[in-house]
Amino acid sequence: MLNWDEYGKEENPTPPVATEVKTEPASQSKELQSPKKDTDQEKERSTSVDNSNIGEGSRAAAARKAVNEIDEAAGNEELDEMMANAGRVQVDQKMMINCKADLNQLVPFKYDWAWQKYLDGSANHWMPQEINMTNDIVLWKSEDGLTEDERMIVKRNLGFFSTADSLVANNLVLALYRLITNPECRQYILRQSLEEAIHTHAYQYCIESLGMDEGEIFNMYREVPCVARKASWGLKYTQEISDPDFKTGTEETDKQLLKNLIAFYCVLEGIFFYCGFTQILSMGRRNKMTGTAEQFQYILRDESMHVNFGIDVINQIKIENPNLWDEQMKSDAAQMILEGTELEIQYARDTMPRGVLGMNASMMEEYLKFIANRRLTQLGLDEEFTGVTNPFPWMSEIIDLRKEKNFFETRVTEYQVGGALNWE
Ligand SMILES: [Fe+2]
Ligand SMILES: [Fe+2]
Repeated sequence: MLNWDEYGKEENPTPPVATEVKTEPASQSKELQSPKKDTDQEKERSTSVDNSNIGEGSRAAAARKAVNEIDEAAGNEELDEMMANAGRVQVDQKMMINCKADLNQLVPFKYDWAWQKYLDGSANHWMPQEINMTNDIVLWKSEDGLTEDERMIVKRNLGFFSTADSLVANNLVLALYRLITNPECRQYILRQSLEEAIHTHAYQYCIESLGMDEGEIFNMYREVPCVARKASWGLKYTQEISDPDFKTGTEETDKQLLKNLIAFYCVLEGIFFYCGFTQILSMGRRNKMTGTAEQFQYILRDESMHVNFGIDVINQIKIENPNLWDEQMKSDAAQMILEGTELEIQYARDTMPRGVLGMNASMMEEYLKFIANRRLTQLGLDEEFTGVTNPFPWMSEIIDLRKEKNFFETRVTEYQVGGALNWE
């Protein structure tokens, strides 16, 4: 058993003797003569253990040789550049893109909102298995529990979302992360990446619980046109900037990065998720598929924070790089949001050929235009659709962050005693 009183006590002051390959004692080697490593602690560690009876293979000797040869100044190009500026970071050196200051130093914070979102996201942690799916399984397997239109809505949405969150996660990890040059925002992106993994897990958990044909559901983003169009619209923006040779720093490439942010935060997460969320949550409000709906409710809470984070990042980039936000870029941004709206309206029509769950495709169209106006104004652009109102005010209540605390407490208190959320 470990005895902490004994920790650090010299058992045998005999210096270590190297076996097989003769090397200089660590404290005398050329590489270790730098003041950084030649500390009293190091010396103590190297002399406090008697290794004389330990046989050493050639791999350990090779490992020691490699460690002794580490060049502390070497690294990749980005690291070299950072190391050249590796003093203590000052707040005014920090920038959202093309920052040359050391990105390994989280503080001092420049964007307190990003750190706050990281804390808020972490405080809202949840896992799909915490949600009771029993009633959903019974309803899904019963002959007359749901209408054909309702069954299609469940399948289509699980089909779209089960891969959409992977597209978002891949965009974050494989394309966006390295190009956002701010550590507190990177910290949130890491948090968001975990949340996207949990969302994909939640959809998989629903699909498995309901005993659906997994191949059919996970391939909808390739095989069902209204789903495939949305996926391929997003994918082209990932492809543009995921090339390892892609670099920001010119007006053209900075604008490409900005378009990726708009595509994913404003359109994919900010528009493409909204028809499906509304449909499934409407089902939950009618006491159908309440476990699935509860999963979607948690996901929606995460997603509204993702959208808000992305919009803050975009607007910060605009402030720091006003040259990027020219008339062409404004027009391109509006076009992207309106293309996304059109794709989502098509998805609404396809998934709701008739009225269902107290809603229909034309109500959803109005809702999506209402959301589109909001995305445009969040970027400082003019609204596109006049006279639209929100036909689903209850959705705003669910998204409303002021309700977050109540929502979370409801889960903790009610779910743990086997209850369900109250949908009204
Ligand atoms: Fe997600
Ligand atoms: Fe997200």
